[in-house]
Amino acid sequence: MKITLRLILSLIVVVVTVALVSAWFHVRQERVKRYAEVRAQSALLGEGFKDSARHNLETGNTPRLQKVADKFQDQKRLEGVAVYAENGSLLAASSGIAPEIAGRARQIAGLLASGEEGELLFGDRKILVHQTELTFGESGKARVAFFSNVSFIELELFQIWKRTLMRLLAQMVLISLVTLLVIRWNLVDPIAQMAEWMKRLRIGEEQGSTPPLKGDIFAPIAKEATTLAKNLQAARNAAQKEARLRQEGESLWTPERLKELIKIKMDGRPLFVVSNREPYMHLREGKEIKAIVPAGGLVTALDPILKAAGGTWIAHGSGDADFEVTDEHNRIKVPPEEPAYTLRRIALTKEEEDGYYYGFSNEGIWPLCHIAHIRPIFRKEDWEHYYAVNKKFADTVLEEIADVKEPCVLIQDYHFTLLPGMIKAQRPDARVAVFWHIPWPNPETFGICPWQKELVMGLLGADLIGFQTQFYCNNFLDTVDRTIESRIDWEHFTVQKEGHPTLVKPFPISVDFTQPDRDAKQLPEKPDPVTVLKELGIKAEKIGLGVDRIDYTKGMLERVKAVERFLEKYPDYVKKFTFIQLGAPSRTHIPQYHRFLAELHAEVDRINWRFKAKDWKAIVFLEKHHEHKEITKFYKIADTCLVTSLHDGMNLVAKEFVAASDDHRGVLILSRFAGASRDLKDALIVNPYDIEQMADAIYYSLNMPKPEVEERMTRMRQEIHENNIYKWAANLTEELMKLRMDNFTGV
Ligand code: G6P
Repeated sequence: MKITLRLILSLIVVVVTVALVSAWFHVRQERVKRYAEVRAQSALLGEGFKDSARHNLETGNTPRLQKVADKFQDQKRLEGVAVYAENGSLLAASSGIAPEIAGRARQIAGLLASGEEGELLFGDRKILVHQTELTFGESGKARVAFFSNVSFIELELFQIWKRTLMRLLAQMVLISLVTLLVIRWNLVDPIAQMAEWMKRLRIGEEQGSTPPLKGDIFAPIAKEATTLAKNLQAARNAAQKEARLRQEGESLWTPERLKELIKIKMDGRPLFVVSNREPYMHLREGKEIKAIVPAGGLVTALDPILKAAGGTWIAHGSGDADFEVTDEHNRIKVPPEEPAYTLRRIALTKEEEDGYYYGFSNEGIWPLCHIAHIRPIFRKEDWEHYYAVNKKFADTVLEEIADVKEPCVLIQDYHFTLLPGMIKAQRPDARVAVFWHIPWPNPETFGICPWQKELVMGLLGADLIGFQTQFYCNNFLDTVDRTIESRIDWEHFTVQKEGHPTLVKPFPISVDFTQPDRDAKQLPEKPDPVTVLKELGIKAEKIGLGVDRIDYTKGMLERVKAVERFLEKYPDYVKKFTFIQLGAPSRTHIPQYHRFLAELHAEVDRINWRFKAKDWKAIVFLEKHHEHKEITKFYKIADTCLVTSLHDGMNLVAKEFVAASDDHRGVLILSRFAGASRDLKDALIVNPYDIEQMADAIYYSLNMPKPEVEERMTRMRQEIHENNIYKWAANLTEELMKLRMDNFTGV
């Protein structure tokens, strides 16, 4: 307000000064002009008077002179005229002014003597006295004085001043108003809007970068403010990102963080992983040798860890070209395209493979631990091979860790129950952990195994045994309790046997959350359902997906039956919904797997025949090994993914599907008998034996409101994002490195 007042006052002062100065000049000019007019008029009248008066002066006819003087009074502002002799005596004067002249005789005499014009005040009248010389006769001289009333000039000049002041007043009001409006429209309002914009910017409500300032005056400010807003936004984003990263850095496990942890915790010692299945398998294809990544959760989970932490993975070399690519110690650096760790392959004879892998592991322990109502088969020869192969692996592990003090060995799964005991017997300083990827049954079920004691004792050689869920830990401790003499501490979940403690703990396994993203980048184009279906020679609007190793525990038969029931119950989906099943052949030399595969094919054929239609199939069964990037393509186009295992330790397909859904679409239908159902609570949880329920779940998954689909997927993604495979590995190694190792004698 102060500035507005100052501006108005300054403008007024300038305008008033200009107006007054110009009025003053105007008045001065007017006065000069008016007086000149009066003088010209007097001169004109004077000439007439002189002509009339001259004769009377020559003749000395004073009465006539008087008459002439009277004639010239009251003419056009001329009040009168007076004639003076050369000596200054009055000869005649218009009678209208004669009395006033008499009263001013001295002043008039002075004027006449000076020969100048002058002004006299007659009452309130201002009289201009203008004189001229009058010659007459031979040498007679007289002076004629004209008395003109010039009061009107002052009046007129006063009017000019009055008008000027009136105009000034109006101008002042106008100036004030216009200034106020101009300031308001052009300064106050934009500045107020700008202040509001800046406030919104400050509190983060304003995201746009253009300030509400228009016009030339504000152009430089607008430009600077735009840059400022952009910088502020960038700084804010950076701060948010940094905060998020800091937050994630504290809660999120990455390959780098795991590498760092392993380096610190293991004091530079390498990590040793043992499993039956190798992470990369070399196969001969014609003249070429190709490396493939075998199907199965174990490889999916462990490979990223070794890639991050380095070390040695010891496994059965089961590829037909495996030993053509290894060095003289059966070692090879993997992954082939970017070597990060060592794979030590162990060769097995056909008999060993039959007895240990197909026989005892997969016809014995596998069905023993999975409640899929397949009867386990225990053969003495298989057991002997199982023992021998465990010994073979133990020897190789001992060879690998020979030069490493207090090595850290992570043993995987049911193929190596005897291995922990064998290693610890030779190297009590080794820290040995076993992770059991599959379920552990209740003691009654486990009790049918003729070698249950040996299995439990072998496992208890480990310092740490990890299971997928707490429930399996409980089952294991119950089994120990029923099988051998030991001291079980239920509070701390430890078993003491012959002075050696074993900690039993759940470590729910997971996936590398970012892997599907990397897989997708390797695809030639963005996955698109229409294109994928076209490649399969069909058309459909909705896609259901199943991804499995072909195994009777995966619930694939029940699943295709559920698809059949769904199409029967919701016929609108016939020719609109297709179920794609990717199936990787597995353990094909086992009769049970043969029978299962044949039955699955027969079921798929029967259902497809039942719903046969042009350009459409109810079920597409792709029975072959699929590369990861190819599986990711199917994950990304699926509307619903069915993971309906009859029994499963975890099932990483469920977690991979969620990790691949970066657009937060797709619904997961998940068996309540898969360990993953404990972690992925936002899936549609089903009983895989309940065909009706599964059919309805398919229907519900396809009709679920979009926001619900996204909400569920977002929550599941959050879970896997945080609890990824690196966190699993970090927890397992940290726990193992934390254990007290004061019960060994050293090497
Ligand atoms: C399951 C087991 C793994 C096994 C995988 C594949 O996930 O827990 O130990 O490697 O299946 O089975 P395969 O017999 O082909 O190795």
